[in-house]
Amino acid sequence: MSEVSLIIGASGGIGRELVSQLADNDNDVIAVSRSGFTDDNWPDNVTSVACDSHDESQIENVVKQLSSDGQTVRMAVCTVGMLHGEVDGINVQPEKQLESLNEKQLSAYFSVNTIIPSLWVKHLVGVMSNNALLVCVSARVGSISDNRLGGWYGYRASKAALNMMIKTAAIEYGRRAKGTALVCYHPGTVDTALSEPFQGNVKPEKLFTPEFTVSQLLKITRDLDPKEGPYYLDWDGEPINW
Ligand SMILES: NC(=O)c1ccc[n+]([C@@H]2O[C@H](COP(=O)([O-])OP(=O)(O)OC[C@H]3O[C@@H](n4cnc5c(N)ncnc54)[C@H](OP(=O)(O)O)[C@@H]3O)[C@@H](O)[C@H]2O)c1
Repeated sequence: MSEVSLIIGASGGIGRELVSQLADNDNDVIAVSRSGFTDDNWPDNVTSVACDSHDESQIENVVKQLSSDGQTVRMAVCTVGMLHGEVDGINVQPEKQLESLNEKQLSAYFSVNTIIPSLWVKHLVGVMSNNALLVCVSARVGSISDNRLGGWYGYRASKAALNMMIKTAAIEYGRRAKGTALVCYHPGTVDTALSEPFQGNVKPEKLFTPEFTVSQLLKITRDLDPKEGPYYLDWDGEPINW
């Protein structure tokens, strides 16, 4: 048996950096993205895999391949998420008011931000190492108790639903994959395509680089006790109220 790190959403700003830092730390990394993206700077211990997570059978195949290769997962990070962009021919933009809510856009948010990560959590339960970490990149705006500003209905609700999925799955992982700590991670506001249109009001010192948030993620998750989880943590390691 060998151990690997699995990054899902490996072509994104945070995903790409996760692959780089883990590979530079001598981990064998499986980099999963829709396109099978690979970066010229990634070393030889990175394997790029194409998988469209909207098709559950493709998730199942990636996980079956790990098992048949005799690999277990020491760390899995699902970075998949969407705030704006083109999905199935519709232009998704975060809603500022109730009048902007519509079924197609809400479905797109839940599909990408909640359902895809949940299906990975479902399929990974049987292949985690004895001492493992499973992180879903969430967001502080998914905190129900922290919601003071309103707006961004679909993004907020889909991240809150993701958090609930992790909270619920952690109970079952506690029986079936006892050694796995589950984490919902808030990366801060990070300079990637996802935040790019919304960076105008962000103070320069509050706009993090992918390098910074990824090194924080790897640092604060190093010694988490699975029995104390699931964790909802920000980039500084501070717990966020659910
Ligand atoms: N950047 C921020 O300020 C910020 C703040 C809070 C939370 N987050 C969260 O951090 C995570 C990573 O975001 P990022 O900043 O790195 O953004 P990004 O560069 O846009 O990457 C987003 C990732 O999500 C996947 N994705 C996007 N749209 C998709 C769709 N329609 N169907 C399937 N997969 C889709 C892509 O996966 P492929 O590689 O497969 O294409 C991509 O790798 C997200 O979950 C986001 O919500 C980011």
